[in-house]
Amino acid sequence: MAPLKGYTDEVFRNAFSRHFNGFDGALAPFIPTVTDKRIRPALLQGVLPERNRRLPVVPQIMSNSPDDFIRMAHALTDTGHSEINWNLGCPFPMVAKKNKGSGLLPQPDRIDAFLDQVLPRLPCRLSVKLRLGRKKPDEIDNVLETLNAYPLSEIILHPRTGIQMYSGRPDLDRFERCLDLSRHPVTYNGDINCLGDFQNLSERFHCVKRWMIGRGALINPYLPGDIKGADIPPDDKVSRFTGFYDDLYRGYQDRLSGPGHLLNRMKGFWTYFALIFEGGKKVAKRIHRSKRIDRYEAIVSKFFSSEPRWVEPEQGMSVDEVLP
Ligand SMILES: Cc1cc2nc3c(=O)[nH]c(=O)nc-3n(C[C@H](O)[C@H](O)[C@H](O)COP(=O)(O)O)c2cc1C
Repeated sequence: MAPLKGYTDEVFRNAFSRHFNGFDGALAPFIPTVTDKRIRPALLQGVLPERNRRLPVVPQIMSNSPDDFIRMAHALTDTGHSEINWNLGCPFPMVAKKNKGSGLLPQPDRIDAFLDQVLPRLPCRLSVKLRLGRKKPDEIDNVLETLNAYPLSEIILHPRTGIQMYSGRPDLDRFERCLDLSRHPVTYNGDINCLGDFQNLSERFHCVKRWMIGRGALINPYLPGDIKGADIPPDDKVSRFTGFYDDLYRGYQDRLSGPGHLLNRMKGFWTYFALIFEGGKKVAKRIHRSKRIDRYEAIVSKFFSSEPRWVEPEQGMSVDEVLP
């Protein structure tokens, strides 16, 4: 399961794995480092191994400071983690401008200096999640050469540039070249939204053994199970989904403080849930307009009781182009 900040947190991961199969593990949304010596326990709670037993989780850190990274990594390994992931892919300009996430990709020397300081002091394995570059897709060449000098457990590559955000298509030719350039195992990530997407990619990239799915599983939570060969009759899909939805909603009711936060969180999810139901976009628009939680609950309840039809995403769909 890919990290999706604001979505695939502890509540979602646990609800998801109570109702659906297919994922072997999850990479958690990034934790920012802090300059304070003391790390607030609240920052680490969501990724505690004992709170993520159903779906083992690897924490991700976003930082460009070796000292802050090491401190956070120690705090995480003290709770039982044996692997940490470094975020080198976040595309947001505010992040990139601060030389974090994809902002580091045009600066392989900084990546080199960071790893040179971090790896000898790291008490666990390290993997890296990245894009092809910040502005240009060939930035990856020097980055991979730099990464090859270090012992990493894997590289997770989403083959877009940072400035592309989520538009256009993943650059599969460039991804293929990266498989030759990297001495580390490479995990593919990006736009796997249906079984056909996965089949095409796995036929093309035989040597890829690990696959990461984010938005495709928010839209269709049966997708990881379908890929592993589960065969759920389409008629059962909606009723099982509503069980998951109830669980998720209760989880956020318990966790989030106040109806405003709850409403905003659920509005975010419906952006994706909308794409799997016939008439889903219309209901998502109504949900997005709702200002009160009781109104929201009424819209969702009416929608589910109308027995909406489950419609699988089309092969080659770009989520960015079809969001309501
Ligand atoms: C809302 C949102 C939040 C994201 N948060 C993170 C994050 O915290 N860390 C990270 O490495 N990638 C993050 N990503 C990127 C995804 O993990 C993934 O690389 C990207 O969505 C492409 O994969 P997909 O097409 O399977 O979703 C985020 C993406 C989205 C849309």
